Amino acid sequence: MLSCRKFPTRAPIYLACRSRSPALYRFFSATNDTSTSKPFYITTPIFYPNAVPHIGHLYSLVTADIFARFTRISEPSRLVHFLAGTDEHGLKIQKAAKDRGIEPSVLCDTLSEQFRRLGARANISNTVFLRTTEARHREAVENVWRHLAAQDLIYKGTYSGWYSISDECFYTDSQITHLPSSPTPISIETGSAVEWSSESNYKFRLSSFRERLLDYYTANPNSIYPSAHRERLIQTLKDEPLDDLSISRPRERLSWGIPVPGDTSHTMYVWFDALTVYLTGVGFPAERQGSPWPPNIQVIGKDIVRFHALYLPAMLLAMGKPLSHTLLAHAHWTAQQRKMSKSIGNVADPFDAMDAWGVDAVRFYMARVGGRFRDDVDWSPEQLEKHADEIRSLLGNFFLRITSRTIQKRVASAPQLTFAQLLDHSLDGPNGDVLSSLRTLKGRVERCMEKFEVGDALDAIILVLREANGALTHTAPWSTQNPPEAAQVSYLLSLEVLRVTGICLQPFIPEAARNLLDALGVPKGERSMDFVAVGKGNVGEVKGVKLFEGKREIASRDQ
Ligand code: MSP
Repeated sequence: MLSCRKFPTRAPIYLACRSRSPALYRFFSATNDTSTSKPFYITTPIFYPNAVPHIGHLYSLVTADIFARFTRISEPSRLVHFLAGTDEHGLKIQKAAKDRGIEPSVLCDTLSEQFRRLGARANISNTVFLRTTEARHREAVENVWRHLAAQDLIYKGTYSGWYSISDECFYTDSQITHLPSSPTPISIETGSAVEWSSESNYKFRLSSFRERLLDYYTANPNSIYPSAHRERLIQTLKDEPLDDLSISRPRERLSWGIPVPGDTSHTMYVWFDALTVYLTGVGFPAERQGSPWPPNIQVIGKDIVRFHALYLPAMLLAMGKPLSHTLLAHAHWTAQQRKMSKSIGNVADPFDAMDAWGVDAVRFYMARVGGRFRDDVDWSPEQLEKHADEIRSLLGNFFLRITSRTIQKRVASAPQLTFAQLLDHSLDGPNGDVLSSLRTLKGRVERCMEKFEVGDALDAIILVLREANGALTHTAPWSTQNPPEAAQVSYLLSLEVLRVTGICLQPFIPEAARNLLDALGVPKGERSMDFVAVGKGNVGEVKGVKLFEGKREIASRDQ
């Protein structure tokens, strides 16, 4: 049985619970006994199947997958519940189907499958893929509606204002602008066309949650990451009124959706429907012991913070349910420094990218360049190529160099030595530096991941690999000028670097990391973070294999 690290207990987040410690939330087990802790629950946004997936969708999936996989290796006995899916109702889908002259259900069936395929192709380890057109979801949404209605939190009212079909969002006068270049007014924030709506609809008393939401975000520093989103939200809650939210549209306008219980002349607003998916994903309305609720991390894009940080929490508070621990709101990918858009023709296709460079190269690029989440990043095939080469060289080529026949022969001619025996001697020079870095790697990676700093975690691993590559070049174990004993030291140390970094890299580049650990003969039970300690795990019989799909590992100059 693997032992698990002890972390301070963190009480579940209800509004009553104010976190006093400014320490960042740790998503690892709250106790030493992971068998009794709640499953780790992580979600991606559910995607609109109105068009084929793009790079932005893959980014949400990969980001969530990195945390899901990291949790699995940090707490191997803890269940990880990981939800992804498609958001299939609403005007946007209704319109997309009409434009193509097909039924919305046909459009959704076809495109939802593309999103499922995207996850499978990218090695996303989600445990649930939910479509909002499924019966189990409809049951959950109707249940939430009835629950809120029973508490008099829903009333019939009127809405006069702007609506963007593309954003599926209501806008006030102050949120839109009239540009001479645009035939319709547009949303200032998103640039999407808006249209005037004046209709009767059902409303949710969102306004009555303002104080509680403000208290919650003020008291919970780790509720949204990066924190700038939380700060902005607090300011908005302080400065602006929080209006009640329209949660239905007249049926003659929106027919593709879930009818309002008891009033089929209205269809539920798509976000009310969609946000409930996170509850459907844990089996709601059935209450069961050991439920994964609440989500530990919800990965979302920066454009949908408001929906997840105001509407969803208000709905959950009304339901008496604990709120998600952390919303991780990532920035966007642009292309040629511009928002990706079909009309500009700069939409990057994730399938093409994975076919051309391989899944792990694309995942690596996304995590390395997009792993800071704060600023938009530009999608660039040249940069992708550069980063793909970096990891192929630092890991793949390093592995080939160390398992070359020349080195194997030299090592065989030296007196037998194990890595444990090697540790009895002090290593100096570049080898000593590598060993020191390796010893602190676990702590660095864990600290970064606890702080949601995926890019920094990866940097720490890359740094060790870079140092180890440099040390290998410096000690030149293949050279007959150096004694076989020196070759053996380099060999053993390099294998340990590969074992330890290979474990750490599993969340980021799962396939290459698995190939590597398999090739090193690392037992399956020794691939958790517990074994990221110098000399703790075993390397078995080493086999030279290709680690990355696609392009070949770059041949070494040295051999
Ligand atoms: N259906 C809603 C989410 C409902 S969640 C209950 C939705 N769907 S979406 O398909 O438009 O977007 C899904 C996710 O992809 C969002 O998090 C969004 O931020 C993200 N991205 C869309 N374009 C993006 C980029 N160009 N770059 C990065 N992510 C982007 O919103």
